[in-house]
Amino acid sequence: MSRLTAENLTLAYDRRVVARDLDVAIPDGSFTVIIGPNACGKSTLLNAFARLLTPTAGQVLLDGRMISGYRSKEVARKLGLLPQSSTAPGGITVGDLVARGRYPHQKLLRQWSAEDEDIVRESMARTGVLDLAHRAVDELSGGQRQRVWLALVLAQQTDILLLDEPTTFLDIAHQFEVLDLCADLNEREGHTLVAVLHDINQACRYATHLIALRPGGVVAAAGRPAEIVDADLIADVFGIQARVIDDPETGTPMIVPVARTRASAPSLA
Ligand SMILES: Nc1ncnc2c1ncn2[C@@H]1O[C@H](COP(=O)(O)OP(=O)(O)OP(=O)(O)O)[C@@H](O)[C@H]1O
Ligand SMILES: [Mg+2]
Repeated sequence: MSRLTAENLTLAYDRRVVARDLDVAIPDGSFTVIIGPNACGKSTLLNAFARLLTPTAGQVLLDGRMISGYRSKEVARKLGLLPQSSTAPGGITVGDLVARGRYPHQKLLRQWSAEDEDIVRESMARTGVLDLAHRAVDELSGGQRQRVWLALVLAQQTDILLLDEPTTFLDIAHQFEVLDLCADLNEREGHTLVAVLHDINQACRYATHLIALRPGGVVAAAGRPAEIVDADLIADVFGIQARVIDDPETGTPMIVPVARTRASAPSLA
């Protein structure tokens, strides 16, 4: 079952087509990870899922209905998006930014409540930014800022979370912290997660469902990492020759790059 699916999607910016006839289903309760080379359309797909981009053809279905038919607040109560990059309003504090995650839940007659306050505090605590609550967002380091944006998405308390490169800017300890938090949200709290990651080995460790996009926004393979990741897939998707071995820690596929097989990535050509 999939509450979130894309059918026959064509995604484009003006005339530049990023993906054509794309079919993607996000399994309910999965920790889905999307991998693929730069510019293959990962963020574009996430933006279409979050209704920030209107498909040129095809449709995104959320709970069986076309996502275009929902009111904005309804979408924001069902799914939250951590964009690849975002700019906070100048001078806003961490606490005030994270509090914005509660807006979709505000009603005309029920304004800010103690419950909202608790949720905002807990979201900041879970991403390790509670101590920064009174600091200005634009004065933080890249990694601190990344965790503040993640706290905002958590505060939204949606069943579905779309996270575009949640681990960029983070040191390795914080990368694991954020991925463990994601696994927790997925396993223990039943959220459906869709994350874009560039670290294939981390993707294989954490994903219950992996989607590999090749240049041109084409799904090269989708399934459990152990079922789909092999040297051919890595060559196909990234244009590199790699050995695929068992991760000594987890037993999941682990790639060891050997050489590039394409002169340069097509996306950079
Ligand atoms: N706002 C935009 N206007 C025009 N073209 C865009 C826009 N955003 C992205 N593109 C183009 O669409 C294609 C896909 O971009 P997208 O950001 O989805 O790639 P990506 O897979 O997320 O890459 P990365 O790994 O670098 O984040 C690229 O060719 C990019 O140049
Ligand atoms: Mg991207």
